[in-house]
Amino acid sequence: MNLYEETISALKAIVGDPACIVEEIDTAPYTTDYRKLYKGKAIAVVFPSSTDQVSQVMSWCFSHNIKVVPQGGNTSLMGGAVPDETGDAIILNLRRMAQILAVDKLNDTMTLQAGVTLSSARAAADEANRLFPLRIGSEGSCQIGGNLATNAGGTAVLRYGNMRDLVLGIEAVLPDGRIYSSLRGLRKDNTGYDLKQLFVGSEGTLGIITAAVLKLMPKPQSASAAFVAIENPAAAIELLGLAKQLSGPTLTTFELVSADAMTLVCEYLGGVKPPLADNPAWMVLIELTSTGPQDALDASLVQVLEAGMEAGLVSDAAIASSLSDLQAFWRLREEISDAQTRTGGSVKCDVSVPLSHIAEFVDKATTKVKSIAPASRMIIYGHMGDGNVHFNPLRAADQDAKSYLTNHYQAISDAVDSIAHSFQGSISAEHGIGVSKRDDLLKYKSSVELDLMWQIKNSLDPKGLLNPKKVLPSIA
Ligand code: MLT
Ligand code: ZN
Repeated sequence: MNLYEETISALKAIVGDPACIVEEIDTAPYTTDYRKLYKGKAIAVVFPSSTDQVSQVMSWCFSHNIKVVPQGGNTSLMGGAVPDETGDAIILNLRRMAQILAVDKLNDTMTLQAGVTLSSARAAADEANRLFPLRIGSEGSCQIGGNLATNAGGTAVLRYGNMRDLVLGIEAVLPDGRIYSSLRGLRKDNTGYDLKQLFVGSEGTLGIITAAVLKLMPKPQSASAAFVAIENPAAAIELLGLAKQLSGPTLTTFELVSADAMTLVCEYLGGVKPPLADNPAWMVLIELTSTGPQDALDASLVQVLEAGMEAGLVSDAAIASSLSDLQAFWRLREEISDAQTRTGGSVKCDVSVPLSHIAEFVDKATTKVKSIAPASRMIIYGHMGDGNVHFNPLRAADQDAKSYLTNHYQAISDAVDSIAHSFQGSISAEHGIGVSKRDDLLKYKSSVELDLMWQIKNSLDPKGLLNPKKVLPSIA
């Protein structure tokens, strides 16, 4: 038996025969990323059912120098959860570890295995009359382990923070099979370095997250939302200031949507009508939520809109007047991502810039993209309240996706990143680095930062076996 055959039989002995697949036809859904941009190969895909099995798999791989790619719902937009085409790694998929272990209503926490999908986690919180506030479009497939490993953000970060802010404890299996655990649900614990946070945003390069303790919030009883027409992103930022002042902590969502993004998603959803007359150049989706009565929240939203109109920031608004309106608004926002994936030929730039410069960024980057590829549709949307926009130029309807990307991907991506950087921004606000942007770090991280990143990687994963060729640049 060669090493790979030995590995397969060792893995089968650990996880059981059916939980270890090897045929290419079976492994294909796991070796291909969500957007079908990366197609790799794997020795095997294993589906352990317990932390102990993960630990045994890792010990075996460590002592035999086998690489391991951890995988949750495989919804990464950065190629972060699939192996490359060399075929020298196994995929360790967490989907069988999908138990909610405990909901502690007094401590307002939930302990769960890493393979629980975000929508199941939210449903379990809801059942306990609580809210788990992370909200992203892929919630039906993405998993808590992946949400933590990528420090997921989404549409409620403005109010509740990202995954890093929502976690109180982590259990992770280290590359050598040892188990790190801080599953205690403490809000205060200053006993040295905050080790759990090392795993958050590490994209599976330092350890495999197997369980977590997450914070729960009071469950909102009312929600009030509107699509609002604004002249430009600068007006959006001024309106955001008003909304913060007038609505205080009830302000939950403040999402920007460009006219091109709205047109695309309306077409993708089969020709639904845009929420505002004449589909204005820019819109924001504002949502307030509260544990108080609906009337008071509605009044607060109207106050924001009136103040916005008086200040000349808001020219029109569509207020959700029923639950089905609210759902329709959210559908328009959340399906923008898939509308681009299905259309093909988009350059995804997930940038953040301080709020004071985000409007200038959008203007400058738009001008630059138009000079590179004038016919591009400007699919610009996202979490304006956090200074995070998905700035995703898309091929014109009559352009071919492949030639658009071949001719313009690099030029657009480089230009947008460098403009974001010139405003002290980040080239990856919430989607992570994966394989797509690892070498860009050479340009945008200081040598001190890169050195520290490598030192951390080498001390936790001295053999470089865990999620190889991800996050860290190819040149050390
Ligand atoms: C979103 O905000 O919709 C997500 O980050 C996904 C995406 O931009 O594709
Ligand atoms: Zn987003």
